[in-house]
Amino acid sequence: MVHSSACITGVNALSNTPLSEAGFETLAIREGLVRGFEQEHSDPIYATSSFVFESAEQAAATFSGERDGNTYSRFSNPTVSVFEKRLAALEGGEDCVATSSGMSAILTLCLTVLKTGDHVVCSRNVFGSTVSLFNNMLTKLGINVSFVALRNLNDWRDAVTPETKLFFCETPSNPICEVGDIRQIAEIAHSVGALLAVDNCFCTPALQKPLAFGADVVMHSATKYLDGQGRVLGGALVGSIELMADVRAFVRVCGPSMSPFNAWVFSKGLETLQLRMDAHSVRAMTLANWLVAHEKVAKVNYCGLATHPDHDLAKTQQSAFGGVLSFEVTGGQAEAWAFINATRLMSLTANLGDVKTTICHPASTTHGRLSDDQKREAGITASLIRIAVGLEDVSDIIADCERGFSAI
Ligand SMILES: Cc1ncc(COP(=O)(O)O)c(C=O)c1O
Repeated sequence: MVHSSACITGVNALSNTPLSEAGFETLAIREGLVRGFEQEHSDPIYATSSFVFESAEQAAATFSGERDGNTYSRFSNPTVSVFEKRLAALEGGEDCVATSSGMSAILTLCLTVLKTGDHVVCSRNVFGSTVSLFNNMLTKLGINVSFVALRNLNDWRDAVTPETKLFFCETPSNPICEVGDIRQIAEIAHSVGALLAVDNCFCTPALQKPLAFGADVVMHSATKYLDGQGRVLGGALVGSIELMADVRAFVRVCGPSMSPFNAWVFSKGLETLQLRMDAHSVRAMTLANWLVAHEKVAKVNYCGLATHPDHDLAKTQQSAFGGVLSFEVTGGQAEAWAFINATRLMSLTANLGDVKTTICHPASTTHGRLSDDQKREAGITASLIRIAVGLEDVSDIIADCERGFSAI
């Protein structure tokens, strides 16, 4: 089975520089690029659903895997391969499989490694649709889940059953920025023969590399920071060659494949990932400090704040704290909605990871499908507002928040 772009006759842009010696930002710009016949400088987009062969013999050899080459874009596509190689290198993983969305990446992972009767332990404060996937969809297949507190290692241990095959967590979590100890959670998972998958959406490999702390799989909603400009949907899984071979076999048969155009957008996004993540982090830190001092703020959730309960842990596994923060305004839903409705610059939308700052009310949007108990356990209160700080001038973002507070 082939996923490489080795069939393209061309010159690797880094052919004179060993990739193993290249730094993160160099890999983000050049890894995976194979020039075609035109010697184009920017990565080409191979907008094709299938590939042709010179003979029946060559077609047979390519389909059987005896010969390197692409056959059909549900299985592999050169533009998608560039993104996969680049992201694998940035995460420090052996291989990567791209998918059509972040949710399809999680579903793909689960249906690859789990079967009826198996059990998953998942941190409670993961993305709302991830909770629904585990709770409402996988249970139909007889796959059970236990939700635990991300920070409480005893909870992880206690939730294990003889059927536990997968641990899943998101760190920092959405939207209240709790941080899980990846190394310790991985140790617990491995002690019972389970895999640990980490949703690395908030940090991206620019700020955190979960595989280096013992995670087995990194999962991405590429839709967020990997694109960085809110243009397309996509997802990815990064892990060992063996695991990714199984994941690729699932994608090949079941079809949650990434489109070449989207892969091209993501590869372009990776080129500026480090710069953007550093800039998001600086702006979010400034806004968090400003919010902490505001009289109409009851609580700020940002792990970059020294007062955040997970600040010290975050410093050990992240190089910066990312662009997402949340805060509770004094009052309840009416005050939170009044704040949001009075803002003019920030975009009222559920997406995050964009150069444009976005604002949302998690309890009635991204996490609206959770029960009241689930919301309470995940810290999603009626007065909570999430801001994913973009790359506008931070003084303009603060001025927009002033508009919000003046409506309360
Ligand atoms: C942390 C996290 N994981 C997963 C997802 C799902 O990704 P997608 O929307 O690309 O399916 C999201 C989407 O917002 C998210 O925020």
